[in-house]
Amino acid sequence: MRIMVTGGAGFIGSHTVDALLARGDEVVCIDDFNDYYSPRRKRENLTVAQTSSSFHLYESDIRDFQEMDRIFSIEKPQKVIHLAAMAGVRNSVKFPLLYEEVNVRGTLNLLELASRHGVRNFVLASTSSVYGASKEIPFKEDNAAMKPLAPYPATKRSCELLAHVYHHLYGLHCTALRFFTVYGPRGRPDMTPYLFTQAISLGREITLYDDGRPQRDFTFIEDIIGGVLATLDADLQYEIINLGNSQPVVMRDFVTIIEDLLSRQAEIVSPPLPATEPPLTYADISKARRLLGYNPTASVEEGMRRFIDWYQQEAA
Ligand SMILES: NC(=O)c1ccc[n+]([C@@H]2O[C@H](COP(=O)([O-])OP(=O)(O)OC[C@H]3O[C@@H](n4cnc5c(N)ncnc54)[C@H](O)[C@@H]3O)[C@@H](O)[C@H]2O)c1
Repeated sequence: MRIMVTGGAGFIGSHTVDALLARGDEVVCIDDFNDYYSPRRKRENLTVAQTSSSFHLYESDIRDFQEMDRIFSIEKPQKVIHLAAMAGVRNSVKFPLLYEEVNVRGTLNLLELASRHGVRNFVLASTSSVYGASKEIPFKEDNAAMKPLAPYPATKRSCELLAHVYHHLYGLHCTALRFFTVYGPRGRPDMTPYLFTQAISLGREITLYDDGRPQRDFTFIEDIIGGVLATLDADLQYEIINLGNSQPVVMRDFVTIIEDLLSRQAEIVSPPLPATEPPLTYADISKARRLLGYNPTASVEEGMRRFIDWYQQEAA
């Protein structure tokens, strides 16, 4: 099958590309290699993919409607996995207009073109942060999710709503996947697993909010990729589905796991939790289990061991 993957050079995107190529799909990858973090790292993420004749790379911007139309016309993808976005909650507070342009307009461009070009299934990356500081725990997909804490989750919620419009008006099959703090090899350098591993390795301070009391539902990249491919194959009509681990980790314990793996003590500073951050993320994954057969298996200890192996070999 011919699959378009936007954001294919990024963390989740490059693993998605590799998994699709490994099972014999043709992959049309779109990425603008922007410098939110090192473009060199994004190119390295595609080292293996680039050796495949089934891999077609477009260094293009999803905000450019004409260019996207050109790529749909040439490549005729049957399905789309749309992962390209400006990610990062706190950065979205600094650059809200950029987040709106890339995430909302970029997604709208792709939804419009997917429906015009007869795409059979459109899988969209959303986020656990749409739940804000919801007190309905664990987080379920039927939560209204109307109280985001930052521009980033507000743009992602908008994408979910736009996807519904394209399903309703044109019958486009769309599933929005709400990812819960994804980590693992090729992990983003602006995210906590990377930042803490780097700082502890170098003997620098880490910023652990609110004395490490917050909890996060960390999800290993391989489990996420299993959920993404199952969604691609399921061709559901219109759904929003959580992909998490459903086992929140207290952040102080998360630091201890890294300290043990690195055999080094963390230097901790502990400011209050910023207004952009919820005290807890916790996925109810019963819908993913039911509709996708999703079944995350990696413990945080094992996942972080594999992340740190990668970090020490490739990223440090
Ligand atoms: N990593 C997580 O924990 C997490 C959690 C929730 C949601 N998500 C979502 O999953 C998706 C993938 O996240 P990731 O962690 O792999 O991030 P990432 O930053 O590694 O990947 C995103 C990719 O999109 C590309 N991109 C950005 N703007 C673009 C544009 N205008 N045109 C073309 N390409 C563009 C970037 O260059 C990058 O390679 C994003 O939509 C993100 O919001 C990630």
